[in-house]
Amino acid sequence: ELSDRGPDAWLRMILRKPSNDRTPEDLETIYEELMHMKPLSHLSNSMKRELASVIMFEAHPKSGTVVFEQGEEGRSWYLVLCGSVDVVIHGKGVVATLHSGEDFGKLALINDVPRAASIIVREDNTHLLRVDKEDFNRILRDVEANIVRLKEHGKDVLILEKSSSNNSAHKYVVMACTASRMVEHLLDSRLDGNTSNYDPALDDFLLTHVVFISPRALVQELRKHYSMDSPHHDRELSETYRRRVVFFMYRWVTTVRHPLLNEPSAVQFIEELVAECEREGWEESALMNRISAQVTRHQDAAAHTNKWKLPPGGQPICLFTHNETGCALIKPHDDIIFRVYCADHTYCTLRLPVAATAEQIKVCAADKLGIRARAEDLILVEVKSSGERVVFKDCEVSIPTTLTLNGKIFVAPKEHLDALTVIPEQEAPTEGLELDLEDVSAREMAYHMTMFDWDLFWNIHEVRICLRGINEAKVCLNNDDFPPKIHFFNCYQYELLYHTFGRHRFGQSTANLDVFLRRFNELQYWVVTEICMTSSLSKRVHVLRKIIKLAAYCREFHNINGMFALVLGLSNVAVSRLSSTWDKLPGKSRKLYTQLEATIDPSRNHRAYRGVVSSMSAPLIPFMPLLLKDMTFIHEGNKTMVDGLVNFEKMHMLAQTLRTLRYCRNRRLVIDPPSPKNEAEVRAYVRCLRTIDHQRTLNSLSNKLEPRRS
Ligand code: CMP
Repeated sequence: ELSDRGPDAWLRMILRKPSNDRTPEDLETIYEELMHMKPLSHLSNSMKRELASVIMFEAHPKSGTVVFEQGEEGRSWYLVLCGSVDVVIHGKGVVATLHSGEDFGKLALINDVPRAASIIVREDNTHLLRVDKEDFNRILRDVEANIVRLKEHGKDVLILEKSSSNNSAHKYVVMACTASRMVEHLLDSRLDGNTSNYDPALDDFLLTHVVFISPRALVQELRKHYSMDSPHHDRELSETYRRRVVFFMYRWVTTVRHPLLNEPSAVQFIEELVAECEREGWEESALMNRISAQVTRHQDAAAHTNKWKLPPGGQPICLFTHNETGCALIKPHDDIIFRVYCADHTYCTLRLPVAATAEQIKVCAADKLGIRARAEDLILVEVKSSGERVVFKDCEVSIPTTLTLNGKIFVAPKEHLDALTVIPEQEAPTEGLELDLEDVSAREMAYHMTMFDWDLFWNIHEVRICLRGINEAKVCLNNDDFPPKIHFFNCYQYELLYHTFGRHRFGQSTANLDVFLRRFNELQYWVVTEICMTSSLSKRVHVLRKIIKLAAYCREFHNINGMFALVLGLSNVAVSRLSSTWDKLPGKSRKLYTQLEATIDPSRNHRAYRGVVSSMSAPLIPFMPLLLKDMTFIHEGNKTMVDGLVNFEKMHMLAQTLRTLRYCRNRRLVIDPPSPKNEAEVRAYVRCLRTIDHQRTLNSLSNKLEPRRS
């Protein structure tokens, strides 16, 4: 060989010798050579000595030679000594070229995954150095760089970092990556072989993807991989990829369902995959058939719109629903009936889809109220019972569900903003049902409260659909590869993300989450209102006692959200200042209250609460405002994009929080019902609580009950 002449010929000759034929001088020569190589510069000298005995020389005289192919098992790590190689990815072609001094092939060795790219010799007479897997593992694995960056066309596309957890099968985790490259990475490395494995990286991706890639764009990515022919027309390989796409789709549907099934291109793709699996006789066919049944059910449910009414105060009431449960999920196309006021406190009643924007509401209301102004000169405003005004952005959606308890929607010309004042009824209690709390047992009331909160938390709607075919549900529950939790459709997951990142950015409503948060405030202010409106001291003590017991029962029933709301209500100044009332409280109740109060202590990032929850098994209703706070904290403390790449560290953190939510709902809440004494009455009462949410009004009521001592 011509290239074997010259000063390096000697070295090459040595490097071709099998390890045990190398003499001490040979090793010394190699060692000195290794000292000059850039990719090895971070290695200690003793490692280089070890490498000297095992590193092999590989010459590739012809360009176009395949060093290894994408999808193959990784057996070696390589260094380019001279010449160059191309990094080639299916469907993309050459994504990078590596020259003398650069290395490749580390990824497959470190993570025990198939090769992420093919390596093809680019120049004649390219020379490589090779370290085989066992030697690599023995000498290099532990010291390999903490961060691996993969480039395409000179730009970083995937940044991996060594994971600190030893039990993780994948030693490197993705820190940052483009969305499209991440799909590739998941298909390449995460979906091989055992399909029933739970994979945290895939779960992170599926739980959070709406933040960085729309369902529609993700379907397109998957289609690209699905229809891609492997180079060299390797039928087996392209079938492997196609089946991975099928499995990806299956996981996607079972992880998120609702938002995905609202996306027509996803539904169409699912249908194509179902047919293909059937045709090819793949075993994934069984999974896909289940999904396709879900698609049908979803479409059934979506075809029916519900009608809602937002009463003055309280929760939106479902006036009309097609499914027999009576309790339903609020969907963007459902209609909602609500009032819009103008500056002189006259109002009109509108019926619009939940997804209507502030701008649409503004225009409709102005028209009905006879306000003549151009849309851009009008504003839509919430006036809270405290008098605070919040102007809605034109693009905001699901306005009625986002109102505070006694807040009202106003429309006015821009310049009249300051003239918008509270309507007298906002300071009075909302309409609620009458019930003498002395007649109801705390347990019974807590039971109905918890059941109502649970319905709101669970969106019973979908679950009933599942349970309607009870046999089918049983099948799912008994089937190991189909964990039951997958059934428990979760709209909050997305609503939490929309809420955290800003609803208007997605143009999506968070109506169901809004309602749940509103319930939290409602419970809290109901406590304050009830106590401040009970004028007799002895009765007030009784109510106080009852509410403490109620909170304790909520805790017993795993309704932590409810417990929090009740205890927060009791710690409101309008209540806590009533010292004559508290003084008369029996010791037992006082002790109970002290315990409850300790769990809501926010210090050290709600450590007490977190302790309580971690000692509790699911199902449970978590303290939702804290979940939101955690999400916001992660969001504000971490960038979503870093140098054009999605920050997957952040997605992982968000997913962890979303997983706690999923955990809370992984089973249906079942509590022994109380003996049905006042069932209908109590049920109705807890659904429609009387509240004042205006702190000044509450304070003055409280002052009247027990005047300030001077
Ligand atoms: P491995 O997956 O073991 O085999 C292919 C190698 O190509 C891979 O490790 C990386 O070391 C290297 N490589 C360089 N750039 C890229 C890229 N953009 N994508 C994938 N692999 C790349």
